[in-house]
Amino acid sequence: MIDLRTDYVGLKLKNPFIAAAAGITGSLHQLKKAEESGIAAVVLKSYFQKSVCRRSPTPHFALLQSGHGRVRATTLYSYEQASERDLDGYAQLIREAKESLSIPIIASINCFNEEGWQQAARAVEEAGADAVELNLSCPHGVHLMEGRDLVKELAATTAFVRSLVSIPIIPKLTPQMSSPLALALAVEKQGASAMVCFNRFTGLEINLETLEPILHGGYAGHGGPWSLYYNLRWLSEIAPCVKVPISASGGVWTGQDAAKYLLAGATTVQLCSVIVAEGYGAVSRIIRELEDYMAQKGFSDLGQLRGKLGKIRTMEEVDRTQRIVAEVEEEKCTGCGNCVRVCIYNAISLEDGKAVVNELCQGCGLCREVCPTKAIYYVDVGERK
Ligand SMILES: Cc1cc2nc3c(=O)[nH]c(=O)nc-3n(C[C@H](O)[C@H](O)[C@H](O)COP(=O)(O)O)c2cc1C
Repeated sequence: MIDLRTDYVGLKLKNPFIAAAAGITGSLHQLKKAEESGIAAVVLKSYFQKSVCRRSPTPHFALLQSGHGRVRATTLYSYEQASERDLDGYAQLIREAKESLSIPIIASINCFNEEGWQQAARAVEEAGADAVELNLSCPHGVHLMEGRDLVKELAATTAFVRSLVSIPIIPKLTPQMSSPLALALAVEKQGASAMVCFNRFTGLEINLETLEPILHGGYAGHGGPWSLYYNLRWLSEIAPCVKVPISASGGVWTGQDAAKYLLAGATTVQLCSVIVAEGYGAVSRIIRELEDYMAQKGFSDLGQLRGKLGKIRTMEEVDRTQRIVAEVEEEKCTGCGNCVRVCIYNAISLEDGKAVVNELCQGCGLCREVCPTKAIYYVDVGERK
């Protein structure tokens, strides 16, 4: 029996999965679907002080495929902005959600001045929110801070909101910085109870017929399964440096993705674009996949997994002595030539319809990656001279 229970900012969660702030958590109907899916908590779609953001243009979603041939990345590209509700309506939604649901309800607010933060933070606390995310990272607004000291301003906002409410406050960080670590340290110092790493990136897609940006005509939120690796890189650096819990967000589409964030030190894992693309049914699959992974590794609870990522080596610590070279399992090779095309060392050729490796092989690893029949393997030929 796998025990997925976890504590997060004083909340007892039945598993580490939280529905992230988005249209998937924008109405009572959506919140009920979230609870039925087996998710452990929800973050409501953000309230925005800036009222122009409360009505999203139509259409506001595009599923983009970049790359070519078999090598493709999916982007959920969107300009879905704020909750449509004003502050009174948002507080009402919190009250209704608290009445109808038994899982924790986390509010999310995005404001542009002290008055706005004060009114919103107090309103969501009074309405009964279990915690509040400070959406300091909306991809539609981050670029507006260009030229300003983001770390200083967001730390000051965290300190200000901390002084206003007693519920847990959880700044949601942007990944669009030269060092998200500096931001994480700054918000922790100013009293953050936890932090979300991370919101989405800002992107631009161009319609080649009209020569205009697609959808509404501007920049849009740009996320998808590809963002896992960048976010994981920064989360793994932030986690050992902060004491507060981290809620991972970005690119989680499978239980294995979630396991990676937990290994890197996350306490909870948020799901968003996978639910937008597949519906709430994705949640039970992801929970099952995490349980299966844990069972296979012999982990019975999250404590045995969390933060157990192996050492991340520095440039000096990387082992450069080992030498491996490629070999081909002749029976499996179909002579497709993928390996020949990708080899920049001129180390593979086709002979009689089969791949043959020569002494120029540098053991780079790419031919094995592109072989569709797994005909290429590596042999260790000892230390490099
Ligand atoms: C359509 C859409 C709307 C979103 N709206 C919000 C929002 O209102 N507030 C917020 O903090 N994050 C918002 N996000 C960001 C998500 O909460 C999440 O952090 C992000 O999408 C990364 O996770 P994912 O890769 O699982 O989608 C939104 C994301 C999407 C896709």
